Amino acid sequence: MAPRPPAPLFPAFPRLLHGGDYNPEQWLHQPEVIVADFRLMREAKCNAMSVGIFSWAMLEPEEGRFDFAWLDGIMSRLANQNMKAVLATPSGAKPAWLSLKYPEIRRMNDQGLRDPHRGRHNHCRTSPVYREKTAIINRMLAERYKDHPALLLWHVSNEYSGDPCHCPLCFEAFRQWLKQRYHGNLEELNQAWWSTFWSHRFSQWEEITAIDPSMHGMVLDWKRFITDQAVDFFRNEIEPLREFTPNVPVTINMMGTYMGLNYWKFAPYIDIASWDSYPAWHSEPDEFRVAADTAFNHDLNRSFKGQPFLLMESTPSQVNWQPICKPKRPGMHILSSLQAVAHGADSVQYFQWRKSRGSSEKFHGAVVDHDGSAENRVFQEVARLGSMLEKLAPVAGSDTPAEIAVVFDWENAWAIDGHQGFQNREKHYGDEVRAHYRELWRRNLAADVVDADADFSRYKLVIAPMLHMVRTGADRRLADYVRQGGILLLSFLSGMVNENDLCWLGGFPGGELAAVAGLRVTETDAFYPDQRQTVHAVNGNILGLRGEYDVQHYADLIQLKGAEAVMAYGQEFYANTPAVTVHAFGKGACYYLGARVKEPFLTDFYTGLVKRHSLRSAVQGQIPAGVSAQLRRAGNRTFLFLMNFTTEARAVTLPVGQTCRDLLEDRDISGTVKLPAYGVRVLAGAAG
Ligand code: GAL
Repeated sequence: MAPRPPAPLFPAFPRLLHGGDYNPEQWLHQPEVIVADFRLMREAKCNAMSVGIFSWAMLEPEEGRFDFAWLDGIMSRLANQNMKAVLATPSGAKPAWLSLKYPEIRRMNDQGLRDPHRGRHNHCRTSPVYREKTAIINRMLAERYKDHPALLLWHVSNEYSGDPCHCPLCFEAFRQWLKQRYHGNLEELNQAWWSTFWSHRFSQWEEITAIDPSMHGMVLDWKRFITDQAVDFFRNEIEPLREFTPNVPVTINMMGTYMGLNYWKFAPYIDIASWDSYPAWHSEPDEFRVAADTAFNHDLNRSFKGQPFLLMESTPSQVNWQPICKPKRPGMHILSSLQAVAHGADSVQYFQWRKSRGSSEKFHGAVVDHDGSAENRVFQEVARLGSMLEKLAPVAGSDTPAEIAVVFDWENAWAIDGHQGFQNREKHYGDEVRAHYRELWRRNLAADVVDADADFSRYKLVIAPMLHMVRTGADRRLADYVRQGGILLLSFLSGMVNENDLCWLGGFPGGELAAVAGLRVTETDAFYPDQRQTVHAVNGNILGLRGEYDVQHYADLIQLKGAEAVMAYGQEFYANTPAVTVHAFGKGACYYLGARVKEPFLTDFYTGLVKRHSLRSAVQGQIPAGVSAQLRRAGNRTFLFLMNFTTEARAVTLPVGQTCRDLLEDRDISGTVKLPAYGVRVLAGAAG
């Protein structure tokens, strides 16, 4: 990727955002609290607050009676303090009058029962009434604040969920959706769903009234429909925003690899990707797994739009909903926040600014605790971070070069999740993908996280573990990629079904992947927990692997059709047959990992792979274990983030003769860079 000049998400506000979810409407009866909030925001160097997320009942206390006075006041205060509003549309939680008068807006479960009015995120997204009411309030907001100097960004709804509604309106919409997908041809649908099985054929569209988990094609289409319906609802929500504020970007706050919605389908319609990050720091003996898994989600969010994203929510301290809610240890808040920035975030935003006094989130971490004080540890660390983010303003809009792509594909996850076979207990698609990503993370190899529809051509290595679903055309694109010189990594269960969850005929992996991988998978073995299978290195293998490793859960039996074995199985009737292979194809190569092999196999495997294919990390030289190095780049400037995820001091030695600017300490630095426990340094230098 050629270097590009910085492209700040907000050209008129080119800095890193700092702030978070702010709910002043809970405190209108105590105006002194709001006065204190704005003083404390100044102290914490906050510049952007998300307002109005759950304010519908305060903005429209009765149907058609609106009250914007309090929000006007907050918007003015923000503007007066040179701060910005991330202004939300309030559809995430509905007012009680709406539920009472229009029961159709309440979600229905699959037994035909409607949710009572309670909680949030539980409305029907098909309901014309809900769509109309959200459009009205959104229009009022857009019209009212369109020229407001504080308005920076639209925060549309809150964490759209994928929990389905099974009401008659939704099923009618589903049938319409199906008619479109299958060109009004029910026979095409019957074929796609393989519905002759168990006499499940449909002879009229009206017969489709419930979801049948035994029909995998149907379940898949239902999940697709739920995503499309959410996207459609979102587009309905933003119509008035686009009309009145065409230049104000819109975002939705996503939830990492949440399985309910395929976030890739939102990517074309949002202007900026954002997500809510709540890692369980301090839950394991060291932080590496959590740090790497969090980095994976950051990279996914950066990849949605191929540009910086926003960290929309994070806790300054602890959450209230994990089984054990640990406060972040001193230093962890700054470290975890700057980790997001290192991976492409142009913000550090919190849930929440101030702890609410009552209800379910009263003990959720916040910048301002019930003590209202700026003296406590959490506030102090937030304020320190605020100053740091100001110093890091030049980072805003810089990109993150990556020559590796890791494929994480929602539809593939749904297909694996939904199928019955081989191994029904320990499928772990997401964990498998993350296990590969962790090997990149520990080597400081930058990666994008893409889905199987991505353009692979700009990557040197594409890692696609457990790519069970290969949609028609994806096999060809992967084949072309390898033919042109790309390195592809596939693993067990690959290429078994197409986009309808129908098995590829003619052997696995299906379509062109068989030729790319140079093999056929003839059977797949699975293991009870106390059964043993191993793999051992084949003499003289091209990755220089040695030794033996234990297999878990899955083992594909492989017949070579041009590939060569790297590892072979140790036991069973297929002992000494290939377990891991490599195949030179066109100008590139395809690796196939036939089994899930326990640690440290992947570590050794990637050591060989990185060396063989000269994959480059963000920094040359030795980075101590537990220190993560990430690079952002703008034009010919680079920003190197060095992050120590250990509880001990670490040191990184810069290449001889290299001088960088330490942005946080505002001084030139060369030689050895010291990192205290959980410490971060950000070094600006010249590219190359
Ligand atoms: C998010 C949600 C916030 C808050 C937070 C608590 O999922 O968007 O409103 O509930 O979790 O961690």
